[in-house]
Amino acid sequence: MLSCRSFSSSGSSAAASMGGRGLEIHQVFRPASMGGIRQMPQLVTGNGFPAVMVRLMSTSSTNASKAKKEATKGKGEKEAAKGKGEKKEVVVNSYWGIEQSNKLLREDGTEWKWTCFRPWETYTADTSIDLTKHHKPKTMLDKIAYWTVKSMRFPTDIFFQRRYGCRAMMLETVAAVPGMVGGMPLHLRSLRRFEQSGGWIRALMEEAENERMHLMTFMEVAKPRWYERALVLAVQGVFFNAYFLGYILSPKFAHRVVGYLEEEAIHSYTEYLKDLESGKIENVPAPAIAIDYWRLPANATLKDVVTVVRADEAHHRDVNHFASDIHYQGMQLRESPAPIGYH
Ligand SMILES: [Fe+2]
Ligand SMILES: [Fe+2]
Repeated sequence: MLSCRSFSSSGSSAAASMGGRGLEIHQVFRPASMGGIRQMPQLVTGNGFPAVMVRLMSTSSTNASKAKKEATKGKGEKEAAKGKGEKKEVVVNSYWGIEQSNKLLREDGTEWKWTCFRPWETYTADTSIDLTKHHKPKTMLDKIAYWTVKSMRFPTDIFFQRRYGCRAMMLETVAAVPGMVGGMPLHLRSLRRFEQSGGWIRALMEEAENERMHLMTFMEVAKPRWYERALVLAVQGVFFNAYFLGYILSPKFAHRVVGYLEEEAIHSYTEYLKDLESGKIENVPAPAIAIDYWRLPANATLKDVVTVVRADEAHHRDVNHFASDIHYQGMQLRESPAPIGYH
């Protein structure tokens, strides 16, 4: 699937690059000057104390230009000193931040408003993926994984009933954990053993980030109540540790559990879509963040958002069942290239 969308930065044009799932090619934004992210190293407050880092937006541009002048002045002094053969130490005890030299723009020329993700991280979801695929549990370990997930479904159904917006939001707080937790031991192993990861660290981190973007999207649709926030704290505390331990003991089992969790997620989003189609849940306009992240049309609705999120879950299902299968073959993940960019 080819998804093309160009982005530009002021004074520069976008360059195409490759990414994407399998056959998908993404157009990747590159600012005119990749080395154009500049630091402001010359800032020293008059009294020698670090400057206050938090500033009002209204003063930031003034401060930035002041910082530029200071930086230029410092550079001039440094060069003059260099000319005289002197060595001048530059002490930096305060930064105004890292300035991005180019403004990011959408392809329609409007300013890119998100700092939590950038144009080159957006993609068009592959909604043609098979949603019905199911890994049949054969081994004892698979059956335990399967029934562990199934048993979690029951209390979830009781708690949320058919409040799918809320349910999605809460479940995404859990779904974003395994990728991050699984990526950590792989990262440490790579360092410890001086070996490549086969791309699996990145693939799992991508999954975590993608799940977190699901959460950022559903936050716009449903607002958590105080007891739901408390529940997230408790669940995260338990699930993070349980999954970490599980991953250390048996990554094969851990990935299988996530594979089945994703199958359940597909089911939940299908039910969500049914209620949106029947009118039980209002099909409100899509949140702005979702329109930019999944490159949806400006008139996209919640139904479109749920459709692309469900497609993402199907991709996560494949990644995790695949990871488990690699372990079942007696191999390490790094021995089989990771499906990077497979959303
Ligand atoms: Fe998700
Ligand atoms: Fe997922």
